[in-house]
Amino acid sequence: MIQELGLPYARALFCARFQGPRFTSHVRGPSVLATHPLVTFDPGRGLAVLRTPHSVYALRVAPDGIPRHVHWGTPLDTDALAALPEAVSPAASSFEADAAPDELAPQTGARFGPAGLQVRFADGTRGAQWHFAGHRVDGGELRLRLEDRRRPLRAELCYRVRSDTDVVERWTELTHTGAADGSPDPITVDRLDSASWTAPPLADYRLSHLVGGWNSEFQLQRDRLPVAETVLTSRRGITSHQASPWLAIEDGTASEERGEVWSTALAWSGSWRVTVHRNPVGRTIWTGGFGHEGVSWTLQPGESLHTPVYAGLYTPHGFGGASRTWQAYVSRQVLPEPDRDRPVLYNSWEATGFDVDEAGQIRLAQRAARLGAELFVLDDGWFGTRRDDRSGLGDWTPRPEAFPRGLRPLADEVHRLGMRFGLWVEPEMVNRDSELYRAHPDWVVHSGRLDATELRNQLMLNLGRPEVEAWAQETLDRLVRDNDVDWLKWDANRPITEAGWDGHPDPDRLWIEHTRAVHRIMDRLRAAHPRLGIEACAGGGGRVDLDMLARTDQAWTSDNTDPVDRIGIQHGFSQLFPARAMAAWVTDSPNPATGRRTPLRFRFHVAMAGALGIGGDLTSWSDGDLKEAAGFVAAYKRIRPLVQRGHQYRVAFDGPVSAVHYAAPDDSEHAILVWRPTTRFGHAPAPVRLPALDPGARYLDPDLNQVHSGAVLASRGIDPRLPDGDYASILIRLRRIGP
Ligand code: DGJ
Repeated sequence: MIQELGLPYARALFCARFQGPRFTSHVRGPSVLATHPLVTFDPGRGLAVLRTPHSVYALRVAPDGIPRHVHWGTPLDTDALAALPEAVSPAASSFEADAAPDELAPQTGARFGPAGLQVRFADGTRGAQWHFAGHRVDGGELRLRLEDRRRPLRAELCYRVRSDTDVVERWTELTHTGAADGSPDPITVDRLDSASWTAPPLADYRLSHLVGGWNSEFQLQRDRLPVAETVLTSRRGITSHQASPWLAIEDGTASEERGEVWSTALAWSGSWRVTVHRNPVGRTIWTGGFGHEGVSWTLQPGESLHTPVYAGLYTPHGFGGASRTWQAYVSRQVLPEPDRDRPVLYNSWEATGFDVDEAGQIRLAQRAARLGAELFVLDDGWFGTRRDDRSGLGDWTPRPEAFPRGLRPLADEVHRLGMRFGLWVEPEMVNRDSELYRAHPDWVVHSGRLDATELRNQLMLNLGRPEVEAWAQETLDRLVRDNDVDWLKWDANRPITEAGWDGHPDPDRLWIEHTRAVHRIMDRLRAAHPRLGIEACAGGGGRVDLDMLARTDQAWTSDNTDPVDRIGIQHGFSQLFPARAMAAWVTDSPNPATGRRTPLRFRFHVAMAGALGIGGDLTSWSDGDLKEAAGFVAAYKRIRPLVQRGHQYRVAFDGPVSAVHYAAPDDSEHAILVWRPTTRFGHAPAPVRLPALDPGARYLDPDLNQVHSGAVLASRGIDPRLPDGDYASILIRLRRIGP
């Protein structure tokens, strides 16, 4: 279908990032010890060992052919791992399995917890019964092949480790092998998880995860894990504002820089589900993948279903250690341009709403350029009949009254001002009042046999349909090419409801295919336009996950730009994602979302903790504001390498003062952003400890020309020197000057 368009797409460079390589050959026959510095599989003992720089993941293919968990944590040598006793349930009996936890549980045998693989055959039976059919080690990748003892079903459990990260990537590939043996009946897949993870026996279990809503994304929730099944999920067809597919498990004693933490994140931008099961005898296992309950897929003979990657890490260095490992992994292994710094962006949405036109945008662009912005983004309202959110979505041609000469003159002027030109699009959506909907009412995801719920007056297009994917691809490609667009802000302002795919033999494929099409389109756009950047957005942070970040440069964190609320939102976001992927704007005061008045300095200092942007109405900013803002933009550019490429330490967050420390990897430079939204009792703020500093070194504060001892700053802390009053903030810089 894409070829039919004749578009010159090179092979999509980014799409393969989270899909395992195709299985080509398989090691069967005589058992040989396959060894690799990162991965070993010893067929004699059935022991697979995956090594990362600071952790080990081990599993054993038991004599019954089932891969079972052995160890995930501190490095142990292979003999020690082989000698580890089976982690059987302490309450094994005729009512309870006596085997170690499965790497992916099917629904058979004495397994009564959540099954990560749920299949049904045409005769009504459920569940797989495996025999082990071989393994393959290829570089840092391990594949274990399981075949059903009687049915034409094969699963491959896949693992990947790398020498520069403690993150273990896992996924599953399920195949109906009936094509080979002539079994014609389809197999129904009710659940196909990417992986199941097992925590070791701990005295207690605590769960950290992210919850929220529109305007309140990424709120960190940390609770004792109940002895129960806890389901974290999105049934929305997008990752969601309400929950994120990230979690951390520990024994309730881990702190920011100390304690063992096990953390996982699913790389999927559609519906997902993670079931955490803490059983009454002290075992905690969680299994997760794409899809949600009630959704099932059909596998025809010869067909395969590949899950997204479910990544996990172990660290003994607390929540901060876990976050830094995730952030480094996302920066190096996930984001498409690891070495490209994020530009300082100006976006017109909060300034103009839908009321955009060429002259007004040029006025804003001139002011944005004076502030030092490097990218100017024209947001919603520029196309079709779009004067508000009731019409025009889907008609991606410039609105003639607003842009009578098209977008090119604006793009040219933005370029002339020395900035890149960005454009807002929402390619997955349509208003009923649009040319597109009138021409293709059948393109929406909503079943024709149900009344479709409109949210923000819009419906969702089914990009899983080849003709819709082709239309979106062609439309975006043309927009980028014709208007010299350097950046797309890709928005999506509603979830899926009344899902259907009329005429499709397996309509629930929608939940996979729509998401995969979004990813494919982005991948092809980037391949065809190598300079193009993409910002992920779904009404704020409604679709931020590892798979979306694999093809976008940054994510719009939240529509809530209130700096006080943002401190908490950014704290949650940083649990998994790096600051360079966190778009953070300075907007007007009072804030449009909360009505709160805050000084420009405070707004800047909060936004400088991420990929800085500006979103205020610059035409209403005084000369003084503009001058002050230009100073902050310049200051940000000086610390940008630290914020965007340094190591992040959340050095204060649960008291009246919050602070984040960004350290150069070689300890040469440091930036600390400190915020205090409200003063309490007029008390002076406590010193902020900087444990990442070298106690044997001295550090210069170049702004005060003051020298500090690293030992004092690390153990006693730095006086944050906050100004008096509410909304106080400061940027402290430190430079290592030797021992
Ligand atoms: C939601 C986004 O999060 C906003 O930044 C803005 O782009 C609007 N959509 C435009 O409709």
